Amino acid sequence: MIIAVDGPAASGKGTVAKALARHYNLPHLDTGLLYRAVAATVRRMELDPAEEADAVAACDFDELTLADPVLRSDEVGQLASIVSAHPLVRAALLARQKRFAHQDGGAVLDGRDIGTVIAPDADAKLFVKATPQIRARRRHAELQGHGSTVSFDKVLADIRARDARDSGRSAAPLVMAEDAALLDSSFLSIEASVAKAIALVEQQR
Ligand code: C5P
Repeated sequence: MIIAVDGPAASGKGTVAKALARHYNLPHLDTGLLYRAVAATVRRMELDPAEEADAVAACDFDELTLADPVLRSDEVGQLASIVSAHPLVRAALLARQKRFAHQDGGAVLDGRDIGTVIAPDADAKLFVKATPQIRARRRHAELQGHGSTVSFDKVLADIRARDARDSGRSAAPLVMAEDAALLDSSFLSIEASVAKAIALVEQQR
C-alpha cells in the first residue's frame, strides 16, 4: 500500500505521515529532507540557490547530510523552497522517491507533490492543511521550545513566503491531487488528526 501525504509547511503532514507509517507498519520518507539536504549543500559549498546549475550540483549531496539537525531550521527550509523550484533539481531527486514509493510492501511519503507526481497511483492520498496563523503558531512554539527568540510575525511571514513560492512555481506546484482526501488540522489535536487520517486512508484503500 502506497500512502501519499501532501500539504504546506507546518500543516502537520509530517506528524500524520509518521503516525500512518507506524500504524500500517510501512517505511516512511520525508521528501522535504531531500530538498533540505540540497539546500544545506548549496549553502555549505557557497553556491547560488537561484542558479539552477549550482543547485543541481548540490543534488549529489553526501548521504550523511540527511541526518544533520541543521536541515530542520527555517533558514534551510526557505532555501529548500528556492532550490526545489528548479525543474532539474526535481528531476534529479525523482527516481529515488519513486523507488521508495514503489518498493515491495509499500510506503508512506510526505511532501508537496507525492500524490500528483511521485506516486499518482497511490492507494490513499491525503492533503493536510491548516490556516497560516495556526501553522505559524505551531512552528513558533516549536522554535521557542528549541530556545529560539524569533518573533511570531517573522514566523508567519516566512510561512506565507514559502507558501507563495511552493504554490506559485511552475515545476510541480503545491496543489491538492483531484483524488486526495482533505484533512484540515486547524482545530484538531495531534491525536484527532491521526485518527482522522487513518479513517480517511481506510475509506480510500
Ligand atoms: O516539507 P518541508 O518543509 O521539509 O519542505 C521543505 C521545502 O522543500 C518546501 O518548502 C518545498 O519547497 C520543498 N519540497 C518540495 N517537494 C516535496 C517536498 C518538499 O518541493 N515533495
